[in-house]
Amino acid sequence: MKSLFSCVFFLATLTLRAQDGHSLWLQNKASKSVTVICTKKSPTLSIAIRELKDGWQGKADASCTLSIKKDKTIKSDGFKLSENAVEANTDKGILYGAYELLRRQQLQEAITGEVENPSYEIRILNHWDNPDGSVERGYAGNSIFWRSNDALVVTEQDKKLWQEYARANASVGINGTVLNNVNASPLILSADYLNRVKAIAEVLRPYGIKVYLSVKFSSPALLGKLKTSDPLDAEVIAWWKNKVKEIYSIIPDFGGLLVKASSEGQPGPQDFGRTHADGANMLADALKPYGGIVMWRAFVYSPNDKDRAKQAYNEFMPLDGKFSDNVIIQVKNGPIDFQPREPFSALFGAMKKTSVMPEFQITQEYLGHSIHLVFLSPMWEECLQSDTYQQGEGSTVARCTDGSIYNQTYTAIAGVANIGLDANWCGNDFAQANWYAFGRLAWNVNFKSAQIADEWLKLTFYNATSNETSATSYATEWTSNFLSPVKQMMLDSREAAVNYMTPLGLHHIMAANEHYGPQPWWAPEGTRADWTPPYYHRASKDGIGFNRTTTGSDAVGQYHEPLASQLNDPKTCPENLLLWFHHLPWNYNMKDGRILWDELCYRYDSGVQQVRSFQKTWDKAQSYVDSVRFKSVQQNLRLQCRNAILWKDACLLYFQRFSQLPIPYDIERPV
Ligand code: GCU
Repeated sequence: MKSLFSCVFFLATLTLRAQDGHSLWLQNKASKSVTVICTKKSPTLSIAIRELKDGWQGKADASCTLSIKKDKTIKSDGFKLSENAVEANTDKGILYGAYELLRRQQLQEAITGEVENPSYEIRILNHWDNPDGSVERGYAGNSIFWRSNDALVVTEQDKKLWQEYARANASVGINGTVLNNVNASPLILSADYLNRVKAIAEVLRPYGIKVYLSVKFSSPALLGKLKTSDPLDAEVIAWWKNKVKEIYSIIPDFGGLLVKASSEGQPGPQDFGRTHADGANMLADALKPYGGIVMWRAFVYSPNDKDRAKQAYNEFMPLDGKFSDNVIIQVKNGPIDFQPREPFSALFGAMKKTSVMPEFQITQEYLGHSIHLVFLSPMWEECLQSDTYQQGEGSTVARCTDGSIYNQTYTAIAGVANIGLDANWCGNDFAQANWYAFGRLAWNVNFKSAQIADEWLKLTFYNATSNETSATSYATEWTSNFLSPVKQMMLDSREAAVNYMTPLGLHHIMAANEHYGPQPWWAPEGTRADWTPPYYHRASKDGIGFNRTTTGSDAVGQYHEPLASQLNDPKTCPENLLLWFHHLPWNYNMKDGRILWDELCYRYDSGVQQVRSFQKTWDKAQSYVDSVRFKSVQQNLRLQCRNAILWKDACLLYFQRFSQLPIPYDIERPV
């Protein structure tokens, strides 16, 4: 009975996925007829032709020409658009141009013959998927690539799913994917698993997506049964060379390797007295003949360090210039770990002779999982547009990593995926917007979050009627009653999360391990200090915050002037990062005249009030959304609101033990 039930349930899920599969931001719209002219043939071009025929919303009975020309103004995956033509240097460029043409038609935006070149050459998702099908920090069901039973049998259903995934990625310009967790199992490099990687690569290839793998640094010992995994050992070097050769013999366009080494218990070159550069360069040498790259993560910290925020910089800066040119150092946006708000990592712009790429987290590990509605684009935009001052004013994180300032052999940007087997892919319908936004920002680092939200909402939720007259009035009504308020909700949602979780620069005070909900008090005896929230908030009777100034850990010293001095002084440090850099008394005077304690109370409270307003906004949107999505978002907002109240109450009551000050009378009382 149970198995019959689960079988029916499984089929129902597949049907839902099949019906729903295209419903991300790629809805099937009634199209107008078009003739697509393209003299060259290839699987990628066939996809472009089919997409244009299926989705054409330009002039009826038009002819659209796809031409591959050598044009110097067009770079890598770029393209040139006009109303009835796409030009590019490559087939992939044509595909991206076709998707952009369709997007412009659907959004009724002008097409002015401009060239569009991507900001980053490699725009890549990192899946933290394990070979048993589980997903580390995944909140959207199990892996779309791996599963525990019949793990290696590739079914038609698998291929269909991977194809839908590839299509969604290609439509926003994502051109690479790492198929497994950075906490990598050595199994992934075994022949059986590589065969499945090959099958995935075959489905993704026509969509212009290369596959990459995360590897465990001790694979030579664990999988190859060698005595050591020392990167300077001749047998180890030979083992990796052979492994890489084996991979390229079945996947000729394999992208390369992602490595988490000497980090959080993962093995690495330091286990053998070697440096990150020794380890990365050894792998890079093996990949070089095939054009592969190494993305080497800078996410490192240890219990001995006085300030975890400083460690990546301390370990990597001395190695600047020592990495091979097919190594890119992959740096998380902030110096700690994907918190709701962090300053940018001081490594951006500081490593001047090494390629560096930003890593963002699309999955909401610290931002309410797939329950909270948090549009992450404003957070990424904030990081990308932060000025490092490393080469004078205007040396933004974006410009320091996209090749504008430094001459990088490769430029790249990674996003930790929020994708799983859930029928809506991401666990929450609004979390799809974060996948979309990552792709769009990777394509053009100067896109604005408001524009991205606008596009996504129109593509995902707009349903015009077929009648032209009523379509016009519906569009006006839809814009003012749905688009404007819901877009504002999205744009406010990240700041709301910061307010009810970690206002004023607080960080890492979430519940241990699952990182959902508050636990600023958590510090069981014997636990590593840098894994406990009190290490980060440092609340005491005399005040709150982490002193990272010159009188404290001097993390400010890792930033370039004039930023270092600005951050060092509480009067000039941005208030939204105040407690990140300063330990201040509870009665410290804030810019608005409140004392710090009161400000903290108001910020927590305003976060809760913001979520309440999101609930009202969504309730009013009911008539514009199908009931499945309406109810599921409504339910999630209810849970988010309860969790926001919990955050406020728990944090204020806990911090009050130290401040010993009353909670202002005009905020919602803790219950
Ligand atoms: C965080 C996260 C881990 C992950 C790690 C990483 O610490 O909690 O699950 O492995 O980041 O980025 O490597």
